[in-house]
Amino acid sequence: MSNKNLKTVDLVPKAADFLGDVVKGLSAAPKSLSPKYCYDEVGSGFFDEICRAPEYYLTRVETAILDQLGTVNLPSNQPIAVVELGGATSDKFRRLMPHIANVKMYMPVDISRDVLFGDAAKLAADHPNLEVAAVCADYQQLAKFPWQEHLKGKTPLLFFPGSTIGNLSEEDTTALMRICKAIIGDSGFMLLGCDLMKPVDVIVPAYSDAGGANARFNLNVLRRINLELGGDFKSENFRHDVQFNHEKKQIDIHLVSKVAQDVHLAGHTFHFKEGEGIYAESSRKFDRADIEKLTAAHGLKPVTWWTDPKEYYALVLLKAAP
Ligand code: TRP
Repeated sequence: MSNKNLKTVDLVPKAADFLGDVVKGLSAAPKSLSPKYCYDEVGSGFFDEICRAPEYYLTRVETAILDQLGTVNLPSNQPIAVVELGGATSDKFRRLMPHIANVKMYMPVDISRDVLFGDAAKLAADHPNLEVAAVCADYQQLAKFPWQEHLKGKTPLLFFPGSTIGNLSEEDTTALMRICKAIIGDSGFMLLGCDLMKPVDVIVPAYSDAGGANARFNLNVLRRINLELGGDFKSENFRHDVQFNHEKKQIDIHLVSKVAQDVHLAGHTFHFKEGEGIYAESSRKFDRADIEKLTAAHGLKPVTWWTDPKEYYALVLLKAAP
């Protein structure tokens, strides 16, 4: 790549062990399959369909908030470096950029190498005065990355949109927040996207849209297992299922076996009882107090909240608590 203002860093996450993870997940009780395996090319198309579904408010509302941020006040006498977690494409950063004075650098971090590096090259070409440094890495590798070296002379703004924080387990949330705090230090900032708690009859349809995009996306993991690992899943024998867990304020997403059945894969036989679930993922919904508690535990405090008129979603600017 020839742009002078483009750097790429490849931490070469070791190829995800698809077969190993699937066998482990289906051998566990309860069974589970990570939705990260839903995202092949077909699955990414289904996810785009989810984002366009009328019931799935998250993407639409976050985009509207980003477009209407107004000036984001980041007191600093240094230029700003935006580090985006999960920034395979710079769509959200391109919306954020006009609201921040003196952005000098953009560091997207993502595991989808081709999309990430391709998009970074386009952004660098479009903005010759912006330093773009794309980092191909997964969250586990972030702790070891020499952030200070790359961010020297700049004030970091860590951008973590999409309410992805709500998909992480408690343990992973703690680990990630610790890394975020280490990256921004005492003088940087964090801009966090959080899906807020709201009536359950708004949340549930977002994850079970009438057009079936969520179901197609979730079932895509079975299609991939058959195609790439030689499994014999019958997709029509499973259904997409979402339940709201009131105690944990989260959507729990499963695939449920409609019948008693055996599935074969790489010499293994997996038995499913009728009604047995395969756990996919949970998506937590937050109250402001939850965010305050979560961030305070990591030495951060909210300075500005942006929400939509219905308060479905929030972007919150955080800085180190004195
Ligand atoms: N990150 C998305 C969310 O929490 C994940 C998601 C949306 C998802 N719909 C799904 C995962 C269906 C599995 C199945 O909103």
